[in-house]
Amino acid sequence: MKTVAELRSQRWFARSDLRTFGHRSRTKQMGYAAEDFQGKPVIAILNTWSDANPCHQHLRTRAEEVKRGVWQAGGFPLEMPVLSLGETYMKPTTMLYRNLLAMEAEEILRANPVDGVVLLGGCDKTVPGLVMGATSMNLPALFVPAGPMLRGNWRGNVLGSGSDAWKYWTEMKAGNLDECAWREIEDGIARSFGTCMTMGTASTMAAAVEALGLSLPGASSIPAADSNHPRLATASGRRIVEMVFEDLKPRDLLTPEAFDNAITTVMAIGGSTNAVVHLVAMAGRAGVGLGLDRFDALSRRTPFLADIRPSGQFLMEDFFYAGGLRALLARIPELLHLEARTANGKTLAQNLEGAQAHGDHVVRPREQPLAAEGGVAVLRGNLAPDGAVIKHTAMEKRLLRHTGRAVVFQDYGDLERRLDDPALGATPDSVLVLKNAGPLGGPGMPEWGMLPIPKRLLEQGVRDMVRISDARMSGTSYGACVLHVAPESFVGGPLALVEDGDEIELDVPGRRLVLRVEEALVSKRRAAWRAPAPPYARGFGALFARHVTQADKGCDFDFLEGTAAVAEPEIH
Ligand code: FES
Repeated sequence: MKTVAELRSQRWFARSDLRTFGHRSRTKQMGYAAEDFQGKPVIAILNTWSDANPCHQHLRTRAEEVKRGVWQAGGFPLEMPVLSLGETYMKPTTMLYRNLLAMEAEEILRANPVDGVVLLGGCDKTVPGLVMGATSMNLPALFVPAGPMLRGNWRGNVLGSGSDAWKYWTEMKAGNLDECAWREIEDGIARSFGTCMTMGTASTMAAAVEALGLSLPGASSIPAADSNHPRLATASGRRIVEMVFEDLKPRDLLTPEAFDNAITTVMAIGGSTNAVVHLVAMAGRAGVGLGLDRFDALSRRTPFLADIRPSGQFLMEDFFYAGGLRALLARIPELLHLEARTANGKTLAQNLEGAQAHGDHVVRPREQPLAAEGGVAVLRGNLAPDGAVIKHTAMEKRLLRHTGRAVVFQDYGDLERRLDDPALGATPDSVLVLKNAGPLGGPGMPEWGMLPIPKRLLEQGVRDMVRISDARMSGTSYGACVLHVAPESFVGGPLALVEDGDEIELDVPGRRLVLRVEEALVSKRRAAWRAPAPPYARGFGALFARHVTQADKGCDFDFLEGTAAVAEPEIH
């Protein structure tokens, strides 16, 4: 156990000199008396609340509820706002800024008198961004997920974030829905604060972080508007104070076994493909080498059990009522490292004791899975030498093995201009290819990977086609979309060399993605290929372009990876 004298914050508060006089007097400036903070661990609450992030509207209140727990346990809470990456508004994509949040989180902790931290996030990239920063700083840290919003509703139909927007937009384009109905859907699809309530990236990453051991047990399944959620916040406030004295830090928990547990969880819940990029980056911050093949290996042995959209039928609220993540993990104990330590000081096995699924409809029994394998397959081949991923649980099964001719778009603008042009010549068997949508090409690897289907084909009843890009895809999306092709086309990866009419073979069971073009012709195209101009001459975009890694490496900045020590700030 750590003593008060050993607390990091004591460097700021305990000495008797001019600088520490300033720290104490300015703390009193905020209305705190000495007995409020002296000799107490300082708990930072990194809060991603923002008016520009609809998913996090309740996080101001939740921060107060965390503070309540910190006070109860004898700590001193300091709320610190950090960059809020709201999926809804930020362009070109929040992924461009995930590493910026990670840098901010790490540095704000380093520069201030902080002993432990509660991370308040939820909307997609805020989860890995906060965890990556906290892992690099390696102070005791506890993640409180924002929680999913309530179910959507339209004329008695349940609506899911993203998934049902794509679905009904497609029906409107096909002429099956009028403008009035579309407006009603707009009114009913987002009914409360909280993150997307499908098994999108937010729900997936919250579950992965709980499986890593960085949240209290059961945290990731609680709806944002449920009164269990503020109670979770307060319990987290209490627990982080204990963690400081126990000196229980992220890298004590983030072992290779913990990452196996997180990957297994993602596969069993039919989680977002974005988890692949984020978990690789998070592992890199913990000094754990994690490659795409580990995802594929664990996917092959993990049954898909959570019947939640977009791969299933229900929503996160239903998942919570059915027992949530603990109930699901309790159905696959032999696939987990049950001895893994978690943030509450107990093992995963202890946290799963007594967990029960209520009914078999949302959390399927082991013997009746939605699919025998997990939701993400890793593909390789001459079109993706460093790998690509596909969410094969959310696609039409007839396309699992498919060969077709490429219809190529040079970038997303090109796609928007030509998609519905009758001269496009796409057939239901075509393979739609989008270039220049990767980490550098997007830039930021936007969620453009669920390429829209041409209107003419929609009107013929086509609802799925093979699509290939170096982009990501929203966790709420679905379809036969090959994503994260590495290396990306912008840097001259093989995807850059694909032309209209080329034959492409997708073989999901065989994990292959092959460009069937003679090597001599590919070499000729490679010799003629010219690198596009970089999109940013200065600013953060230029820093991003210089240092971001490819999708298979997690898209972290090369200088942020690893566990090399960074000196504590001097106080003079
Ligand atoms: Fe915030 Fe989906 S938009 S979680």
